[in-house]
Amino acid sequence: MLDPLYQEERALRNVVLLRPIGLPDHAWEMNDSNSWHFIALDGNKLVGCVVLFPSASKKSSAQLMQMAIANNYQGKGIGKQMVLKLLQFAKEQGLKEITCHSRKNVNGFYEKLGFTVYGNDFEEVGIPHSHMRLVLN
Ligand SMILES: CC(C)(COP(=O)(O)OP(=O)(O)OC[C@H]1O[C@@H](n2cnc3c(N)ncnc32)[C@H](O)[C@@H]1OP(=O)(O)O)[C@@H](O)C(=O)NCCC(=O)NCCS
Repeated sequence: MLDPLYQEERALRNVVLLRPIGLPDHAWEMNDSNSWHFIALDGNKLVGCVVLFPSASKKSSAQLMQMAIANNYQGKGIGKQMVLKLLQFAKEQGLKEITCHSRKNVNGFYEKLGFTVYGNDFEEVGIPHSHMRLVLN
């Protein structure tokens, strides 16, 4: 049986990430079983999630993916706290680099956390994205 918190995480991603861009529910779960999952709780309610997917080709690198904060919890600093925790965890794992495919309209969020854009922008799931990365030291 799937953990109830994982079910809530999947539901949050449907609402915040997938439905607004017309993708079917549960459309982006292919890396879930091989990723570290981070969640934010308000009491028992799951209000934020993000995963960290280790790179298969580059042992010191991992990709931040599926970052979502519940609509009525956005803009309160929860996303920032989650990424800071994720970065701390990544350091403890000995990782040296975190990458992400940032939706271009939220590049500023990642930039404030120390990520920088590299390479060419590209389209994914029908919307413009930037490659971003942060070197851990
Ligand atoms: C983008 C998202 C994860 C940010 O999380 P959040 O909890 O709303 O953001 P925070 O309140 O922690 O913001 C932290 C900082 O980033 C800034 N910020 C947040 N969203 C931003 C955006 N879209 N563009 C630029 N800056 C942004 C905030 O102003 C804040 O700045 P400060 O530290 O100077 O006060 C969240 O709004 C969200 O889930 N959005 C919809 C889904 C999405 O786009 N996910 C990312 C896919 S790549």
